[in-house]
Amino acid sequence: EEDRRRQLLKVLDMAAKLYHHLLLQHEHGEEARRYLLQRGLTMETIREFQLGYAPDSYQFLLPFMRRRGFDETLLVEAGLAAEKETAAGRNRVYDRFRGRVMFPIHDTQGNVVGFGGRILGDGRPKYLNSPETSLFHKGRHLFNLHRARKSMRKEQQALLFEGYMDVIAAWQAGIRSGIASLGTSLTEEQARVIRRNAETAVICYDSDAAGQTAAERGLDVLKDQGCIVKVAQMPAGLDPDDYIRKYGADAFRGDVIAQALPYTAFKLEALKKGINLQDEPQRMKYLTKALDVIADLPLAIERDHYLRRLSEEFHVSLDALKQEQRVIASKKK
Ligand code: CTP
Ligand code: MN
Ligand code: MN
Ligand code: MN
Ligand code: MN
Repeated sequence: EEDRRRQLLKVLDMAAKLYHHLLLQHEHGEEARRYLLQRGLTMETIREFQLGYAPDSYQFLLPFMRRRGFDETLLVEAGLAAEKETAAGRNRVYDRFRGRVMFPIHDTQGNVVGFGGRILGDGRPKYLNSPETSLFHKGRHLFNLHRARKSMRKEQQALLFEGYMDVIAAWQAGIRSGIASLGTSLTEEQARVIRRNAETAVICYDSDAAGQTAAERGLDVLKDQGCIVKVAQMPAGLDPDDYIRKYGADAFRGDVIAQALPYTAFKLEALKKGINLQDEPQRMKYLTKALDVIADLPLAIERDHYLRRLSEEFHVSLDALKQEQRVIASKKK
């Protein structure tokens, strides 16, 4: 059992090294190398993240590993190979990752436990990730946690991104507290890990609709684990990687991270979606929903703060808001 685990770790580590070597040294890796450099990564960053390239072949990693004494079953268990039954009823085993830029994913000890693989250019799926294995659990690991942990602890702040490239672009720009969940929505377990390493979590998801919906979900998952949560806002159509390349790291720090909306402010903004505030009945409906959010806040000073803001924004008396809020709060009990 323990032996099997060691072998799995070994084969994953060797695969990462091989893919990395191909990207850096080999003619097979040239297109991928050009792709990454053209996306603004430096060779230093490519080395730091041990990025790699998996050649566009069904039989590349498998024979390589077989020659080194690793059997097919182990490669399947490691998530590096897949298995398919042919029409003749025979099992065919083949390389899972083909023609992709490889992003190694580590556990907290820094062992490679899985990979994300990005296709060069367009094509589907854009990213292919390792399947669930005995070592790799999408809902448990966070990309870059083993590198970011030190900075997260020191700053007591975690930056939660959507994608591998966002984390890497931020890192290259000197922002070292970035992590990402692995292509699924943030789980309770991941939120707990974040809370253990930092007091505040800033969600920096893509500014598209998918990113904003994910942010609304992630917000409560993190809050439930005791994090102080903020949500960063970016210009439409950009993700953090795009933003940093376009406007630079200082702007990202000063205009995006530092201006991130606190939990309640973000919630109150999100509630406005699809509501026409010029329309009186809709405006009243919004106010009721907003009061409901505010009623849930644990601190009286925080409730007071947001009630005042509502009062100013909508030109209604603070007394009326407080009175309405008492009604809502008493219904909750
Ligand atoms: N993702 C995934 N599978 C997909 C698409 C996305 O697992 N088919 C995950 C990846 O971890 C990806 C993240 O979701 O990094 C965010 O997706 P997206 O914003 O579409 O990709 P980017 O990270 O922006 O990728 P790129 O900049 O390379 O286009
Ligand atoms: Mn699992
Ligand atoms: Mn996205
Ligand atoms: Mn991107
Ligand atoms: Mn993106």
